[in-house]
Amino acid sequence: MKRILVTGGTHGIGEALVRQARKAGHEVVFTGRNEQRLARVAAETGAHGIRADVSVPDDNARTVEFAVQRLGAIEVLVNNAAYGYGDPVGEIDVEAMKRLFDTNVFGLVDLTNRVVPHMKRQGGGDIVNVASTSGMKGHAHGTAYAGSKWALRGISQCWQAELRPHDIRVVCICPSEVQTGWGGGEPGTNPKKLFADDIAGAILGCLSMHARGFIPEFAVFATNPF
Ligand SMILES: NC(=O)c1ccc[n+]([C@@H]2O[C@H](COP(=O)([O-])OP(=O)(O)OC[C@H]3O[C@@H](n4cnc5c(N)ncnc54)[C@H](OP(=O)(O)O)[C@@H]3O)[C@@H](O)[C@H]2O)c1
Repeated sequence: MKRILVTGGTHGIGEALVRQARKAGHEVVFTGRNEQRLARVAAETGAHGIRADVSVPDDNARTVEFAVQRLGAIEVLVNNAAYGYGDPVGEIDVEAMKRLFDTNVFGLVDLTNRVVPHMKRQGGGDIVNVASTSGMKGHAHGTAYAGSKWALRGISQCWQAELRPHDIRVVCICPSEVQTGWGGGEPGTNPKKLFADDIAGAILGCLSMHARGFIPEFAVFATNPF
C-alpha cells in the first residue's frame, strides 16, 4: 500500500489513476477545481478529494497539509494537472501562455517544493511528472504547451540529480495522444488509440518496481493507431 497525492484527479488520466490506485489498495488524496466531479470521484472510490488549483500557492499549502493529515505521509506525488493552449507564433497571447505556465510549470514546482521536505524527512518517496511527447518533439502552435512540457522534462532531470541521494525517485512520463476529452471535448472511443487507463496503468507499473531502481523517463505511444 502506498500513500499517493494526485493533482487533477477529477478527469482523464488523473481520474483513471485515482480509480486504479484505490482498486489496488492504495490510499489516495487528489485535487481538482470542479466541485461536482471532485465529490463524485471521492464518493465512488473512497479517495479523499480536495478542491485546489495548482496555480495558487495557498491552495498548494492547503493540499499538502490535507494530504499529510489524511494519509499520515505523502509517499508518492503525481504531478498530473495541466491544460493546453495553442496559437501560431505571431499571434501568441503571452498572458495566456504565462497563465498556462502558472499551472503546468510554476504551480507544479510550487507544490513539489512543499512536498519534497516531507519526503526527505521520511527518507524517500516517488514523484511522477506527467509531461508529453509534445515535450520531446516540437509542433506547430506548440509554443506554450510543448514549451511547458519541455520545461517539465528538464526540471525532472534536475530533480533526479538532486533527489536520488535522498532515495526519492523522479519519473517523467511522456504520453502521446490519449483519448480523455482533453480540452473539454467528449473522450474518444477508438480501440486502437490510448485511453486514460493505459497511462494510469503505466504509472502504477513503474511505481511497483523495487525502490532500488527507477525509470527516469519514458514515452507511451499507441502501437497501431493508423
Ligand atoms: N490527453 C492527452 O492526449 C495527453 C497527452 C500527453 C500528455 N497529457 C498530459 O496528461 C495530463 C492529464 O491530461 P488529461 O488528458 O487527463 O486532461 P483532462 O482530461 O483535461 O484532465 C485534467 C485534470 O487536471 C485538472 N486540472 C487542470 N488544471 C488544474 C489546476 N489549475 N489545478 C488543479 N487541477 C487542474 C482537471 O480538473 P478540474 O477541471 O476539476 O480542475 C482534470 O482533473 C496533463 O499533464 C496533460 O498535459 C495528456
